[in-house]
Amino acid sequence: MCGIVGHVGAEKATPILLDGLRRLEYRGYDSAGLAVHASDGIEIVRAVGKLRNLEKALSEKGLLGTVGIGHTRWATHGRPSEVNAHPHIAGPIAVVHNGIIENHLELRAELEASGFTIASDTDTEIIAHLIHRETQAGHDMVTAIRHSLGHVEGAYAIAVLSEREPNRIVVAKSASPLVIGVSNGATYCASDIPALLPYTNEMVFLEDSEIAVLEAEGFTLTKLDGTPVSRRSRKISWSPVMAEKDGYKHFMLKEIFEQPRALEDTLRGRLDRENADIFTPEIGLSEDDAKRIDRVILLACGTSHHATIAGRYWLEELAKVPAITELASEFRGRDAVVGEGDLVIAVSQSGETIDTLMAAKEAKERGAKVLAIANVNGSAIPRMADASFYTHAGPEIGVASTKCFMTQLANLLMFSIWLGRRRGTIDDAQAAELVEGLARIPHVIAERLRETHLMVTDIVRDFSEARDVLFLGRGLSFPMALEGALKLKEISYVHAEGYAAGEMKHGPIALLDAHVPVVVLMPQDRHYDRVSSNMQEARAREAKIIGVTTAGDTQAQSLCDRFVEVAPTHEALSPFVTVVPLQLYAYCVADHKGTDVDQPRNLAKTVTVE
Ligand code: M6R
Repeated sequence: MCGIVGHVGAEKATPILLDGLRRLEYRGYDSAGLAVHASDGIEIVRAVGKLRNLEKALSEKGLLGTVGIGHTRWATHGRPSEVNAHPHIAGPIAVVHNGIIENHLELRAELEASGFTIASDTDTEIIAHLIHRETQAGHDMVTAIRHSLGHVEGAYAIAVLSEREPNRIVVAKSASPLVIGVSNGATYCASDIPALLPYTNEMVFLEDSEIAVLEAEGFTLTKLDGTPVSRRSRKISWSPVMAEKDGYKHFMLKEIFEQPRALEDTLRGRLDRENADIFTPEIGLSEDDAKRIDRVILLACGTSHHATIAGRYWLEELAKVPAITELASEFRGRDAVVGEGDLVIAVSQSGETIDTLMAAKEAKERGAKVLAIANVNGSAIPRMADASFYTHAGPEIGVASTKCFMTQLANLLMFSIWLGRRRGTIDDAQAAELVEGLARIPHVIAERLRETHLMVTDIVRDFSEARDVLFLGRGLSFPMALEGALKLKEISYVHAEGYAAGEMKHGPIALLDAHVPVVVLMPQDRHYDRVSSNMQEARAREAKIIGVTTAGDTQAQSLCDRFVEVAPTHEALSPFVTVVPLQLYAYCVADHKGTDVDQPRNLAKTVTVE
């Protein structure tokens, strides 16, 4: 939530900062601003709304200068307005911030009592005044920031300018992400990797309680208490083109179409087809560890949570290990039972979701081993985990997660097969069938993508005005139904619910009438007959049925008002194919309605607030 960016070097800062903010806009987009060192002090331009409003304001008032910071906001404290937009200024200090200062009210009262005037409703402005107060006491910028952060409780990644030290930016972080980019003659900072990809691949991830001074020639890193830190940069393999739309109307559509490639990259080098096994040295568990696991707890939020439900079903079926899924936000603070013998798998696209991070930390403190499944290399959750099993989806820009979900499914299934092999709960033939099936899945999806898009576009013409939509599925199709409903809600603002098909008769059936489309997932698996009955029950209430059916399943198709065909697969692999039409359904409805598909209202891609 919120994106920050900074540049120190010989080039003009404004275009670089704007470009970085454009790549970070997915993190928040209700206002934006820049602060740049000019010849006679720091100049600031801020604007409410999308980045284009800031660009317009900048075209009227150019900001010259080569050192600057920028911010794109997702409001937490104070409504979106120019006065609440970052950067915030106090005396010679300008600050951008991502996070939440929990004791801001107390600090505000203290500052106001000592004569400081605070213009905005934000928690961030408090940080600017604290630093200003310290500079008034004669401290340089680094010391002033160190002292100020000593008063602050909460999460922050900050970038700070001081009129008195015009050739540097100082950054610091606790809980919120911050990455430094280094190149010849320029140093950058940002909340996320894609903002820096056009300028450098060499990145350094700041850890909590660290502070760095960025200058054109490089950076110095210390702990907040002044202890020097030495950390080498890592080479990031993502290319800038991966974070472009590439001719697609929206990032989301591009990312749906990238799923076969994302899966291929994620599966590469991990499928041991010769031995019908999975090759995953990175998961950090020995053969003995695998046998000793008493229980797996899967922690995640949102779409990643839906992936973990499929993960749970696979783990139980293939590795015969007790497994539970927990919404990370509910796991925290309720004294959940967890300890040695538990393996916690924390699943997160961004690797930064605060609820997942804190829940996994809590579990680790109580003795559980933590395995991270994340897409962003070096992000907070992998850094705190005992081991990491990365997905390789490439940067996901659309706020609605698609290709990362797909690759999370792949990792969860691979892990379940690996564990099953170690625990002796799947035999060679079963494992070979799954490994071969997984190897084919990218191709199976790719073959039908265009046709599915056309089929769904056509269906949506008849249903785009529906105010409520239900999604039903059983077994592995249940989490896909949840995911279909979430996708539709978040980008088209249509009320949608995903239900276990068997639950319909326990309540939701009361909602059905001729105006409610019901999307029924009915791959030809062990649940087929019962789902078929549930579909008939919905039809009997005049609901319109949109079936997600196996190609050629004329029996099911004859019962649907409209249907989409998916490729036949091994039943354990059905989620990889059934979720695609659901993603496209949400996309097509949103596109038809003209909503902001990639940046839906009120949302942000990375949720670093609780
Ligand atoms: O980065 P994470 O996977 O931890 O994010 C979790 C959720 O915030 C995320 O999946 C959210 O639900 C997406 N907008 C779904 O499309």
